[in-house]
Amino acid sequence: MVDNLIRTKGREGRRGYTLPKNDVDGTSLEKILPKAALRKEKPRLAEVDEPTVVRHYTNLSRQNWGIDTNFYPLGSCTMKHNPRANEVAANNPGFAGLHPLQPEAQAQGALQVMHELQGFLAEVSGLPAVSLQPLAGAQGELTSILMVKKFFEDSGDHGRTTVLVPSTAHGTNPATASMADFKAKEIGLDEHGCVDVDELRELVDETTAALMITNPNTCGVYERNIKEIAQVLHEAGAFLYMDGANMNANLGRMRPAEAGVDVMHFNLHKTFSTPHGGGGPGCGAIACSETLAPFRPDPAVEKDGETYSFVRPAQSIGRVAGFHGNFGQMLRAWNYIKMHGPDLRDVTDMAVLNANYVRARLGGTYQIPYDELCKHEVVVQPPKGKKALDIAKGLIDHGYHPPTIYFPLVVKEAMLIEPTETESKETLDDFIGAMLELAETTSEELEEAPTHAPTRRLDEARAARQLKARW
Ligand SMILES: Cc1ncc(COP(=O)(O)O)c(C=O)c1O
Repeated sequence: MVDNLIRTKGREGRRGYTLPKNDVDGTSLEKILPKAALRKEKPRLAEVDEPTVVRHYTNLSRQNWGIDTNFYPLGSCTMKHNPRANEVAANNPGFAGLHPLQPEAQAQGALQVMHELQGFLAEVSGLPAVSLQPLAGAQGELTSILMVKKFFEDSGDHGRTTVLVPSTAHGTNPATASMADFKAKEIGLDEHGCVDVDELRELVDETTAALMITNPNTCGVYERNIKEIAQVLHEAGAFLYMDGANMNANLGRMRPAEAGVDVMHFNLHKTFSTPHGGGGPGCGAIACSETLAPFRPDPAVEKDGETYSFVRPAQSIGRVAGFHGNFGQMLRAWNYIKMHGPDLRDVTDMAVLNANYVRARLGGTYQIPYDELCKHEVVVQPPKGKKALDIAKGLIDHGYHPPTIYFPLVVKEAMLIEPTETESKETLDDFIGAMLELAETTSEELEEAPTHAPTRRLDEARAARQLKARW
């Protein structure tokens, strides 16, 4: 890119910006800097004027895709609009300028936000204790399972070696179980795409530490037997952990504690907006029962009278993040909840309505493996003879980010579509129109797609594993 800029637009001596003259008497960089640090040759930079450099980077940014560019129905990832009011809150100099080592007495406003957010999450989950430390959903999972582990260790129950994980689970679930040094055991599904309770009864025994359930699961299906599942686990002395990455479908409608959940994580960076992508920054806050509360990470925020302070829970697993976690994300989530509160049902209802609208309109042309009311996302399969990959690439030519494909793994040629609550019917109609058009397009034509994107088809696995970043 820069090579191209140098060759086509650059001219020796052309400048967009000039550094101010050194006005400190008697000094020069050559005198101040160690000899080894001095350049021997001029850097190879494009010598261009300001309009050229602005256009160069603006055009580069336009080749990128984001929720601000167009509809982004990436199933499981909840790419919803990030309200700009969130940014105003996060950019408030009183918050943005805080140093992580600022004494508590000088950061009472920030601690108050954290304390209130803990309270909101406790209310939404029905679970009394919260930690905002984990920096991502996957880390929230790990934190939760490490708390379960420490509970058994501190109780002297050393036989709990297994964590059960449904076959629909996000890959981070079995990874979490292994990282916490448990054996991950897979559990199958019934005809509705839900955890098979009969199989669960066979698998659960005195070695079971927990089951990691996602509700609604990654097929967008509500785990209708969750209360029975919780009972089976509790009778065996094990815990029910819930992957709450899909809380977009539950807010104000289902409180996990009432279904028997002992510990869960939230993806604040999905459920409560806040930008995410490229691995972060995120916030994978956890909520848990009184039994697990003493094991939460250090620190949690508590209020005594009018004063907020950081405290270490009695049997804490320790720190899981530097300082106090991703405070900017907490502020944004706090703001989102305040904007929608006190009743977050509108968020859930619109997310579920939008997904069911897509399901109803695509059904008949696309196959719907679990064709009943879905929650906030729907899994579809392309018409016979067509591939999910080709339809996804075709969508790029129509100006859409493709949905998640080939996940969940239990559905062949899966396309997981999550419209979210922030999209209008008009946007959904346009997207559905594109999907229906692609269903009619010949496989030969589809195999050529994308034809209007900056790059054609990439070897995506190689591009990710052998990344050659240039600027
Ligand atoms: C169901 C589910 N669980 C866990 C995660 C992990 O969250 P994160 O990407 O923040 O680590 C995701 C991510 O999208 C998810 O969809």
